[in-house]
Amino acid sequence: MAHHAADPNQDHDFEVIDLSPFFTTPGAAKEKEEAIRRIREACSDSGMFLIVNHGVPAEALDETLAVAREFFAGPDEEKLKWSPRPPEPGAAATMPMEVMERTFEYFVKTVAPLIETLINDALGLPPDLLRQYNSERQWDVMLAYHYFKATETKKVGSHPHKDPNLFTVLLQDDVGGLEFLRGDGEWIPVSPVPHSLIVNVGDVVQVLSNGEFKSVAHRVVSPREKDRYSLAFGYQIGGEKWVEPFAELTGQSSKAMNRFQGFHYHEFLQLLGENYKLHLDPNDAFAIMDVVNHYALPASPVNLPAATAPN
Ligand code: OGA
Ligand code: NI
Repeated sequence: MAHHAADPNQDHDFEVIDLSPFFTTPGAAKEKEEAIRRIREACSDSGMFLIVNHGVPAEALDETLAVAREFFAGPDEEKLKWSPRPPEPGAAATMPMEVMERTFEYFVKTVAPLIETLINDALGLPPDLLRQYNSERQWDVMLAYHYFKATETKKVGSHPHKDPNLFTVLLQDDVGGLEFLRGDGEWIPVSPVPHSLIVNVGDVVQVLSNGEFKSVAHRVVSPREKDRYSLAFGYQIGGEKWVEPFAELTGQSSKAMNRFQGFHYHEFLQLLGENYKLHLDPNDAFAIMDVVNHYALPASPVNLPAATAPN
């Protein structure tokens, strides 16, 4: 990404998009257009960008991380009370806090719908097409994470992966550790930007956009000095949903331009689950990143004659 001298973004290797024009300024057409252009650029390159002035008050974000820290610091017996039955080590627990419900509400009602609209517009789709497609709100999830600081034997917080949803909105604390794979193949650390949120484009948007927008590969490196806390909100579709590039982006007359064949979302999730089981060795992490490419169609509709293939 090119940065010029006047760009407030110049200290980072990623886009930091100010969303205030979408909340406060009537008109502001130029600012809005510029934000959408930068989102388009970031999504086409890597699938990752940061947002600030996104509508969630700073103190709500601070309080959310404080509550998560407090929860994780508590005794295991307490945490297990909130674990699904039967409680088992590593199982996700339900956090009953009011603060979490408020944060979830901000994500589901304010942040995610705005991002959805901006992605829609950055793709040049008819207004609200993505919103109409993604109209069911019963599948969204929010997860709080506690990453222990690195030890001699464990330095990986989270292996490289892509999120299998529409997109994820991430809140990381001031410890940092998230990295994403930039378009040029370099892993870029996402240095903490206070009160920002990170947007990770997922596999579903990659397919709907006919590959124009990338599902971002990302990972977490274990912090060296102290534990790290983060919160991830996943904007999701239901299993029965049909996933296929929008006809508006494939040129209705020529299916040859279509880069993915359609599938039911639950088929993809099942395939993903099977691949996770097959590749439990963390060194295989890259093998599970591109499961969605199972549905990719050949780049060119013209197949080479068999005779030209090497023996
Ligand atoms: C995820 C994820 C990163 C983080 O939940 O999919 O990549 O910073 N989380 O916790
Ligand atoms: Ni992720």
